[in-house]
Amino acid sequence: MKRFARITGTGSYLPPKIITNSELEKTLDTSDEWITGRTGIKERRVVDGESTCDLALEASKRTLEMAEIRASEIDLIILATTTPDKIFPATATMLQSRIGANCPAFDLQAVCAGFIFALTTAQQYIENGVYKNVLVVGSETFSRIIDWNDRSTAILFGDGAGAVVLSSDNTAGIKYSKISSDGSYLSSLHVNNNYINEIGYVEMSGNEVYKIAVKQLANIAEEILRESNLTASEISWMVPHQANIRIITAIAKRIGLPMSKVILTLETHGNTSAASIPLALDVAVRDGRIKKGDKLLLEGIGAGFSWGGLLVEY
Ligand code: ACO
Repeated sequence: MKRFARITGTGSYLPPKIITNSELEKTLDTSDEWITGRTGIKERRVVDGESTCDLALEASKRTLEMAEIRASEIDLIILATTTPDKIFPATATMLQSRIGANCPAFDLQAVCAGFIFALTTAQQYIENGVYKNVLVVGSETFSRIIDWNDRSTAILFGDGAGAVVLSSDNTAGIKYSKISSDGSYLSSLHVNNNYINEIGYVEMSGNEVYKIAVKQLANIAEEILRESNLTASEISWMVPHQANIRIITAIAKRIGLPMSKVILTLETHGNTSAASIPLALDVAVRDGRIKKGDKLLLEGIGAGFSWGGLLVEY
């Protein structure tokens, strides 16, 4: 019998420490008005000693609880992160041990597109009949690789984790998925160290990133609709990577989706990179906006660039 992949649980976790725009005003030549107007972000969470694995663990526990499965029933863990706790071993294996699972576990790195890449990877294992339950996590502590004196990047990012359990089902939850990369944009957005014994920080050409993000995410949204024979009015919710309100608004406008159908968390989360999509998904599932049977358009782009999207029936 053909197997399909379906999301059976979501979960998320944010570290308690908040940094507001007003607090950033004290150390940077910036203002709440500028940050809110240009990005839509008001505050972000940052770790205060917690690790990427700590955040992932809390998000994963909540996810397993909703999916009503035990850690021993997980067949594979894929952890999307740009900020692993160590160069090795993989943060996913630390998570596997701490959550009490007995399964393969690996990290996946596609920066802000990491969760989309991880979900698409998990989908293959399930549709091929190899695994029944895959825990897919996005967890980031970007605050550790931000130059807090650089106003062009320090205002954008936050820390957090989100996760889903993807399980084998008779009917399709994931109905379409697509991932792409173009590695010729290295200097537009990267961490500026070349050697592992140097400390590096995020460096970005904001304008370039903005234009590429709008173009590629609008293209992928259109492709998903076209390939799924759907119109924007048939989409229940778009759950986009939470980078910038202006990027998200431009994409929604291009595909004719009203902003009332877009899940937004960036005002209080900032850009949490690979964690932003599962965080937004979990918020909207738990507050009752996303319901069983809803058609969701998930999409994200990250440095590289790498980008992709999925059509998911929740
Ligand atoms: N506060 C006040 N002024 C600032 C700040 C700040 N925090 N940052 C930059 N400025 C200044 C600049 O120095 C510049 O001043 P100048 O005109 O005197 O030279 C002016 O504001 C305009 O700067 P721009 O970079 O042109 O501003 P822009 O409108 O492009 O907004 C921003 C910058 C918010 C970074 C925008 O380009 C953006 O969001 N780009 C997308 C980047 C992004 O989302 N990256 C996330 C990671 S990648 C991903 O997740 C897809």
